[in-house]
Parts: sequence; C-alpha cells; structure tokens
Amino acid sequence: MKKSLVAITIIGTILNANPYTQKDRILDMQTMASAMQDIQNGFFYNNFDMIKEGTTKLSIAIEKIEPPLKEVEEQDVMTRYTNNKVQMTNKIKKNINKKTQDILERFRDGDPKQAIQAFTKITKQCMECHTQLRKW
Ligand code: HEC
Repeated sequence: MKKSLVAITIIGTILNANPYTQKDRILDMQTMASAMQDIQNGFFYNNFDMIKEGTTKLSIAIEKIEPPLKEVEEQDVMTRYTNNKVQMTNKIKKNINKKTQDILERFRDGDPKQAIQAFTKITKQCMECHTQLRKW
C-alpha cells in the first residue's frame, strides 16, 4: 500500500516536470491536420465511422493545445498583453470542440451540407490562429 503511494507520487512528479513544449504542440498540430483529412474523407466516402474517428482524434488533440510554458510564464506585462495568447487559445479550442459536435450531429441526422459547413468553420478557426499566432 505504502509502496504504491510512493510510486504514484513519483509518477505525478515526473508528469508535472514535463511541461508542454513547442515540439509537443507541433505533433498535436500534425495530429489535427490528419484528423481533418479523416473527417473530409468521411464526407467523400459517406462513411460515418471515419467521421467519428476523425472528430474524436481532433477533440483529443485540441484539448492538449496550449502555449508552451515559457509563454505562460512571460513576466513582461506588455508582452503578455500584446500576445494575449492563452485566452485566445481557450476561445478557439472551445469553438472547435463545439463544431466537431455539430459535424457529428448533422451528419448523423442526414444533413451532410450542414456538417460540411461546420467543418469549414473549423478550418477557419485553425487559420485564424495561424494568421494571428503563427509567430509562436
Ligand atoms: C491556438 C492556436 C492554433 C490553433 C487553434 C491551430 N493551430 Fe496549427 N499551429 C499553431 C502554431 C502556433 C503553429 C506553429 C507550431 C510551432 O512551430 O511551434 C501551428 C502549426 C501547425 C501545423 C504545422 C506543423 C508542423 O509540422 O510544423 C499544422 C499542420 C497545423 N498547425 C494544423 C492545424 C489544424 C488542422 C488546426 C485546426 C484543427 C490548427 N492547426 C489549429 C497554432 C494553432
């Protein structure tokens, strides 16, 4: 019992000592790009399972996206203000997650046109962040 508690504590410490890095973010971005392709293929092949898989993959990856630690810990008030990254990231994440739900519900209900519209809106969210924050 005691031993397992110690183990849990150690694992927790290791996990916390492993902040989100730029490399992690690039990997998550690549996962999202491939998820978007899966969803698009699902439309073309009229395959709901592909769409489900793609939206799940996208939702999991978008949850992980955050500014690398050094930006969160930015000390300079002006830099923080002009960046405003954390807040923006959270807003876009929420939008994208909501649109993935729309895709699933619309496609399931036999309205692929609306599903594709939600997909396009996700693409716009991706690009909004890229044009504004790609300097990250
Ligand atoms: C919150 C901001 C943000 C959102 C939202 C976002 N991206 Fe990105 N994306 C970035 C940043 C910043 C980079 C540059 C990563 C780096 O080099 O650190 C990037 C890079 C990428 C790359 C290039 C990765 C590489 O191999 O260099 C791809 C592909 C990508 N994003 C896809 C997407 C897709 C698809 C979406 C939407 C589902 C998306 N991104 C949404 C900020 C965002």
